[in-house]
Amino acid sequence: MNKKFYKSNRNKVLNKIKDNSLLILFAGNAPKKTADEKYKFTPNRNFYYLTGIDEENHILVLSKFSGKIKEYLFIKEVDPIVEKWEGKTIRKEEVPEICDIEDVRYLGEFNNFIDKIISDNEEINIYLDLEKENSSYKYASEIKSKYYNLNIKNSFKLIGNLRLIKSEEEIERIRKAIEITIEGVETLMKNSRSGMKEYELEAYFDFICKKNGVNDFAFKTIAAAGKNATVLHYVNNDSELNNGDLILFDLGAQYKYYNGDISRTFPVNGKFTERQKEVYNAVLRVNEKVIKEMRPGVSFLELNSKAREWIAEECISLGLMTNKDEVSKFYYHSIGHSLGMDTHDIELENRDVILEAGMVYTVEPGIYIEEEKIGVRIEDDILITENGNEVLTKDMIKTIEEIETFMETR
Ligand code: GLY
Ligand code: MN
Ligand code: MN
Repeated sequence: MNKKFYKSNRNKVLNKIKDNSLLILFAGNAPKKTADEKYKFTPNRNFYYLTGIDEENHILVLSKFSGKIKEYLFIKEVDPIVEKWEGKTIRKEEVPEICDIEDVRYLGEFNNFIDKIISDNEEINIYLDLEKENSSYKYASEIKSKYYNLNIKNSFKLIGNLRLIKSEEEIERIRKAIEITIEGVETLMKNSRSGMKEYELEAYFDFICKKNGVNDFAFKTIAAAGKNATVLHYVNNDSELNNGDLILFDLGAQYKYYNGDISRTFPVNGKFTERQKEVYNAVLRVNEKVIKEMRPGVSFLELNSKAREWIAEECISLGLMTNKDEVSKFYYHSIGHSLGMDTHDIELENRDVILEAGMVYTVEPGIYIEEEKIGVRIEDDILITENGNEVLTKDMIKTIEEIETFMETR
């Protein structure tokens, strides 16, 4: 990513915050797993969005006083002993090249620096990334107990709203994540045989990801055969694939912190039964109808309601129910979500989003019939463009004919 991207993101944030403010963003650190083992570190996404730096513990500070803005990055002091074990960390002189911040200081100076600014001002707004239970909450209570002149504000949604619209470079990363995901899905489809375990098929996806330099997934892979596919977030992936089963895969590679998110459902043995075809085509029709509607100006909440109606109509045609109100027995999630550095790219609670060019949304209708051991979800990733949309997952096979033909050549 070009350093101008991070600079421009910070400028947008600085334009949105009030005067007399500090914005403090922590990179975060890896949580403990057990004993001396830690989980893999992944940066706070808003920190990364404003700096492009993916190391633990650094802190970004933006300030705006009397309309004057300043930017600071506080980095870890260099520790030659730790570096012998864990490798080099970022140097002061490297920071301007990555993200165009010139004023780089060490973490040891951070507390005094903040104390001085707070003491020098009668009243001050402190913007923190107050999302769920991250480290900013602890910091918020620490400084609140020290000072009386603070207004603590949440910058999470402010930055989150900016992240909804992707730049060209961000879209390129999502495209790459999708390309790898598609290669993974096609590879596992080619290797599908009854008698295997779900995790054996999943392993083909893992291999393709690793081979392409992916070091994390968008989320835990769902590999759900037969009845398991009717459990929305089934991730045990340890059942046997029976001849005649459908298997639902919902998965995504993460490429340089940008995610793909695809669901495909296919027959383990390569051939759909007549009933499976009916259900599959019902979901496919809704998938295609929703995608057709996606363009600038459309309310995503309204589209979500329409999709629910259409799925209800399909469920009636499939003979599953007689009244549309019963649809939640067979479909119980929303039609999609914004996709980006997070798979559910910033949860804006029930706030409606009006689609705009540059947004990326998933479209993922599903019908889940426990009694028939059939669960079908078909998920694509859609870029909203000036004139409509582009299906970023268009190279992934989708129709029954395409799937059966593809699997015939295994
Ligand atoms: N598996 C996450 C999603 O599709 O939203
Ligand atoms: Mn998904
Ligand atoms: Mn999704």
